Amino acid sequence: MDIEYVRSRFIKHFDGTTGSIYTSPGRINLIGEHTDYNGGFVFPGAINKGMIAEIKPNGTDKVRAYSIDLKDYIEFGLNEEDQPRTSWARYIFGVCREMIKLGVKVKGFNTAFAGDVPLGAGMSSSAALESTYAYALNDLFGENKIDKFTLAKVGQATEHNYCGVKCGIMDQFASVFGKKDSLIRLDCRNMEYQYYPFKPIGYKLVLIDSVVKHELASSAYNKRRQSCENVVNFIKKQYPHVEFLRDISFDMLNEAKGNISQEDYMRAQYIIEEIQRVRDVCKALDIEDYETVGKKMYETHYGMSKLYEVSCEELDFLNECAIQHGVTGSRIMGGGFGGCTINLVKDELYDTFIHETIDRYKHKFNCTPKIYDVIISDGSRKLV
Ligand code: GLA
Repeated sequence: MDIEYVRSRFIKHFDGTTGSIYTSPGRINLIGEHTDYNGGFVFPGAINKGMIAEIKPNGTDKVRAYSIDLKDYIEFGLNEEDQPRTSWARYIFGVCREMIKLGVKVKGFNTAFAGDVPLGAGMSSSAALESTYAYALNDLFGENKIDKFTLAKVGQATEHNYCGVKCGIMDQFASVFGKKDSLIRLDCRNMEYQYYPFKPIGYKLVLIDSVVKHELASSAYNKRRQSCENVVNFIKKQYPHVEFLRDISFDMLNEAKGNISQEDYMRAQYIIEEIQRVRDVCKALDIEDYETVGKKMYETHYGMSKLYEVSCEELDFLNECAIQHGVTGSRIMGGGFGGCTINLVKDELYDTFIHETIDRYKHKFNCTPKIYDVIISDGSRKLV
């Protein structure tokens, strides 16, 4: 995806003049899934796929937005009652509204955008879109007074208030804070973070996209979150300091076992184990022990599939292929219900693993998985 392409569309669809161009990336996550809204740790990194938007204030109180990829144009106002019905436009509208709530004097603008983050593949195309506009509006209308954390929160609030997904902060954080060649360990309780240079010598990090779209997942996602809250609310009665599942030990969970549903118990068990796994992976990375990193990735897959139940037949099959090929680590990435697996593969195994997995997957599901080699890249920025 390139700037010139976006610019040529912008010129064609509006008045022939040009504006400023911004970009924000999608993300991967090495480990720490569904832990963000439980006050736990995550370990994402931004990738070399993202959204690019050209934007120019138009002197009116209307936003005129063109989705280059969907060839769809829409115009909307900036008041709460102007919310557009079209789903892609809601992200832009939501970001405008959240910036206005922060006191930024957002005015009308023309914009055209395009992206190469596959939609519904668990690589956070929506966060990339939100971060692009949050960053841009801060620059164009907010004198860059809003800090990067708040920009990430604008994206998250957009999901909550305008898109119906009660997501955590991981995706928007990774998109805004991404840094080339580094993963970021974020403590989602106090928002402390640390960059970890990540270039595992002798291994490749590769995503295999099941091409099962996870679009219908938002209600299931919110339901998982509800289960976590149910457990916290119950245990809190006994232990008032408990704010998140992060604060709960297995002893506390087992004490509560008879009073919470079996389902909620399983969800909480997964989260408590997953928070610990991120800690273990950090320790393993410190000594470049990629075998342990990989083992933890498999454990995450198992937990997401059997306890948190956010996998599907296709993702379990891809995971099984990885096990059979002796791949170091493999698991579902992102929210689940479709999308990609992330795989840590020894260089020498890479070609056979990829070719045979594609063949077997085609044979079983009659469709071709997509392969993405991961390049860890920078976060939100202005390009021109
Ligand atoms: C989605 C959400 C994130 C996070 C992941 C699962 O990507 O947007 O906040 O909860 O799922 O780890």
